[in-house]
Amino acid sequence: MRTDILHIGAGELTYEIRNIVNVGEKLEKLGIKVYWENIGDPIYKGEVIPQWMKEIVAAYVKEDLSYGYCPTRGVLSTRQFIAEQTNRRGGVQITPDDILFFNGLGDAISKVFGFLKRTARVVVPTPSYTTHSSAEAAHAGDRPVTYMLDPDNRWYPDLDDLEKRIKYNPAVAGILIINPDNPTGAVYPPEILRGMVDLARKYDLFVVCDEVYQNITYNGQHSLPLSDVIGEVPGMAMRGISKEMPWPGSRCGWIEFYNAHRDPMFEKYMNSLLNAKMVEVCSTTLPQKVLPALISHPEYPGYLRERIARYEKYSNIAYDVFKKVDGLKVNRTNGAFYMSIVFEEGRLNGRQTLPIASKEVREHVEGLVAGPKVSLDKRFVYYLLGATGVCVVPLSSFATELQGFRMTLLERDEERFRKIVGTIADGIAQYLAS
Ligand SMILES: Cc1ncc(COP(=O)(O)O)c(C=O)c1O
Repeated sequence: MRTDILHIGAGELTYEIRNIVNVGEKLEKLGIKVYWENIGDPIYKGEVIPQWMKEIVAAYVKEDLSYGYCPTRGVLSTRQFIAEQTNRRGGVQITPDDILFFNGLGDAISKVFGFLKRTARVVVPTPSYTTHSSAEAAHAGDRPVTYMLDPDNRWYPDLDDLEKRIKYNPAVAGILIINPDNPTGAVYPPEILRGMVDLARKYDLFVVCDEVYQNITYNGQHSLPLSDVIGEVPGMAMRGISKEMPWPGSRCGWIEFYNAHRDPMFEKYMNSLLNAKMVEVCSTTLPQKVLPALISHPEYPGYLRERIARYEKYSNIAYDVFKKVDGLKVNRTNGAFYMSIVFEEGRLNGRQTLPIASKEVREHVEGLVAGPKVSLDKRFVYYLLGATGVCVVPLSSFATELQGFRMTLLERDEERFRKIVGTIADGIAQYLAS
């Protein structure tokens, strides 16, 4: 090319959750039965959509207006419904005009960071859901600025670390919170959330809170929404239907803006996001139309409860197995449907292996781990995949130096889930001893 066509942040865009699929598919071709524990799609893992939900969707499919564009902000009656729900909680109050729909939160995330001034940074958690950390890093063309989620303290944010990142980095303009969290499954207690908002207030920052797993909590935990604690601080909550309904293929999520009018700069920024969406016209219409009818259906709470009870049970099954394995840091998950496990420092080295029966598969895995840049946890993940067919994601691909892996709690068959957890635990013990 006569001109450099690469964006300054092109190198920051990675998504190992899907990259690992290429490796798994290659091994499938070599005859390995793969258990996909890498991706957080309940549908892919066999979630059955209840008939009453399908009937509601079908009714809207029969309406001609479902096939049209909708207003740029989103379908008005749906925004009214959402605003009423938020206002009923009694925290910060919003109007339908404080809501902006996107084609899934993936779209929202890329616009939120993409339309931020390049030199303004949002401090993100480490480990971090990669879509956030990559989009933030790509917008700045630099490594993400991170604060620590502490594996020695239930994966809660370390507020001292967060304050240091803010204090000594004047470019930081906002704080990202993911609660309940992906990849750790942590649910933050009210005092931690309030502490994060207090820091935003103290340093004149805005808050972004990803609440896509807001209603998926268990083990007696509940997740406080940002609207309850934000007070007068400018902020935004990201919500969607991908995980809860679950309808990830609908590509439908929204942002609720809080206190935008209290800060002229933040208000302009909010309007720039609206304009960015206006240039695209609007987001997907059908799921927005369906949303109020689905959420207010009498069967919805029971349907959600049944799924959450399963995640609770699985979180305890996995915790009880992994906490007995030597060499790991394990926290019980209380929300979302992921679990992140960390290898204690110094437990992994570049010589450990697992026995792989097939010569072809073994050679393929050996080729994959031979590269100079393969992290130690990725090496473990590839060996586990080759030896057992269980596909998890290396933790180091979630913007962290910690070495470990993330798995999901989405398997529907309890016996199979127990078997997968047992297989991983045995694999770890064997790998560490090799
Ligand atoms: C924390 C978090 N935010 C956002 C998303 C993306 O959601 P959507 O399907 O709405 O793009 C995910 C998907 O895994 C997620 O885990």
